[in-house]
Amino acid sequence: MNNEYELCWLEYRRLPDWEIACHREWFKSAVPFAQPWEVETALTELKTFARDALGTKMLVENTIQNQRTIILGKIDKLSELFDVPKLEREGSFFLAHRKLSGKDTLVIGAIDTAGLVYGTFEVIKRARLGESFEKMNVVQTPAMPLRMINHWDNLDGSVERGYSGRSIFFEKDRVILNRRTRDYARLLASVGINGVVINNVNVRGKAVQLIDDEKYLKALSKLAEVFGNYGIKLYLSVNFASPMYLGKFETADPLDDRIKKWWKDQARKLYSFIPDFGGFLVKADSEFNPGPHYFGRTHADGANMLAEALEPFGGVVIWRTFVYNCLQDWRDYNTDRAKAAYENFKPLDGQFRDNVILQTKFGPMDFQVREPVSPLFGALERTNQILELQITQEYTGQQIHLCYLGPFWKEILDFDTFARGRGSFVKRIVDGTVFNRKYCGMAGVSNVGRDPNWTGHDLAQANLYTFARLAWNPDELVEKIVDDWITLTFGKDEEVKATIKHMLMNSHRAYEKYTTPFGLGWMVNPNHHYGPNPEGYEYSKWGTYHRANHEAIAVDRSSKGTGFTLQYHSPWREIFDSIETCPEDLLLFFHRVRYDHKLRSGKTLLQSMYDLHFEGVEQVEEFLKAWQRLEGKIDPVKYKRVLERLTVQLEHAKEWRDVVNTYFYRKTGISDERGRKIYP
Ligand code: GCU
Repeated sequence: MNNEYELCWLEYRRLPDWEIACHREWFKSAVPFAQPWEVETALTELKTFARDALGTKMLVENTIQNQRTIILGKIDKLSELFDVPKLEREGSFFLAHRKLSGKDTLVIGAIDTAGLVYGTFEVIKRARLGESFEKMNVVQTPAMPLRMINHWDNLDGSVERGYSGRSIFFEKDRVILNRRTRDYARLLASVGINGVVINNVNVRGKAVQLIDDEKYLKALSKLAEVFGNYGIKLYLSVNFASPMYLGKFETADPLDDRIKKWWKDQARKLYSFIPDFGGFLVKADSEFNPGPHYFGRTHADGANMLAEALEPFGGVVIWRTFVYNCLQDWRDYNTDRAKAAYENFKPLDGQFRDNVILQTKFGPMDFQVREPVSPLFGALERTNQILELQITQEYTGQQIHLCYLGPFWKEILDFDTFARGRGSFVKRIVDGTVFNRKYCGMAGVSNVGRDPNWTGHDLAQANLYTFARLAWNPDELVEKIVDDWITLTFGKDEEVKATIKHMLMNSHRAYEKYTTPFGLGWMVNPNHHYGPNPEGYEYSKWGTYHRANHEAIAVDRSSKGTGFTLQYHSPWREIFDSIETCPEDLLLFFHRVRYDHKLRSGKTLLQSMYDLHFEGVEQVEEFLKAWQRLEGKIDPVKYKRVLERLTVQLEHAKEWRDVVNTYFYRKTGISDERGRKIYP
């Protein structure tokens, strides 16, 4: 603990005496079976936990002397002592209780240093959750090869769509490196993250120079080292037109030999400073960022040119599919933004080099509170893919509102694309199994900033934690992840645990109800995207229209409309296509619906719209009351911070309710059946 910031789920408060009694003996000594540098980070973490939580000093010894000891090492060395499980993938580890010469040992075994770090954090977590080591027998392998956090941090210290204070990586065009940098690496490694892109996908101004200016490269090499000790690789977002900015070329044409050579030289330079550099993230031909289309080339041409430059060094190119016409005319009824990613990238399937990965937002639009899963996941059979989620709550309440995204993300991961028949879940596509791909995974847009609690809203830490746990194991139950997070963050009081769990698990649905249910989306204020504005995007150029009139609302994306449903495999294409079978929580994403359309409940769309808005606000009222009952049971600083946010959330939820209900009332002239207050 220090004064500037807290440590989220890694804050090791002193455990109660009886728990100390259970674990202290284990943490008195450690015996490594590996080169010192391979176990250094893991040992530091064990010692920190022993000191802070158990009040004991852990000694590192060459032989097993104590009755209880932690052994940690690489499996090749451990296998000389006893049978070890087979581990293959980077980061895998096992934990096992073994008797050696009559002594009890807890073994942490891995194939690489990252695995030792992950195994160590797992041991610490289990100790804090009160698990006994006597019967420990755990083997863990990360599901996703790439478990990435994307920062949208700018070099001036601002954060695009950041709601937690300024950047932890940059200020005044300089790279920040301090104690917090290391603690961030610890937080991420403790949940298995292995890659971080530190700068915004919109690469402008000084950020273009990150890959070139030696002053930056030196600072980045230090940063990469700190992260590298925790098994995390550094990645950078790059501007596709860099050769024009930095190399003074008149073009950035990916098929021009001079441009190819420039990138190759640049890659060599970069790797001479950062030997384990991860690679590039690229937002090209998207929202005014340059890309290969500017030079009459395809995305495959562009991505492959960069991939060729990074390939000799083991780097990858992560190329975003967030490409659409952002200069649409609202009077154009033929263009459908939802179709754009598929239309741009499906024809290129199979044309990308092995070290290119396409990164796709979970939905076809842009991180709305509910969207269907993007059809691109099931469509790219010969291309590496990453699923992009937004941990930062741009459209989900900007960390003022409590909106825990775990259950929603789980639905996305569990969505069956039917690309190769039943069982072709998104989680099995982005872990590489369905299409047998090597590089794939998940990326989350960071919600972290320099606020003392890192995420603005204390409970938004749960989103970061859950994102990482799902990238490690998408089959894990969200309920279990939430339980762990609450206990590690708030302790073991049963009422505290049950209350926070209830709030978290219901918060996304509540937010959806009082904002834009039925997959409608986009009724936000333009630019900053906070608060209600039913026609804020209606006549804009961004392709996000609901076209409400007095009878009906939303875009017909069925085969009779824009044809978006045809981008899905059967049976989804048929299910989404019919207003009768379309899941109701996505009804207004896929269909233009009359207000008097009867839903399965027997209620009209309009009445359901009113009802949900009232219900959503009631839920927030209930969250607030539930939280108030925890006063005295929670650290007062945290209690107050959350209380303040919930209070504002309630006010803003009411604003949403009243603005949206009034909008529909004024369009239709139809009152609420239950006579509740709607402003005429
Ligand atoms: C959204 C967001 C932008 C961001 C973009 C992206 O449109 O509002 O700030 O740059 O997504 O993902 O690239």
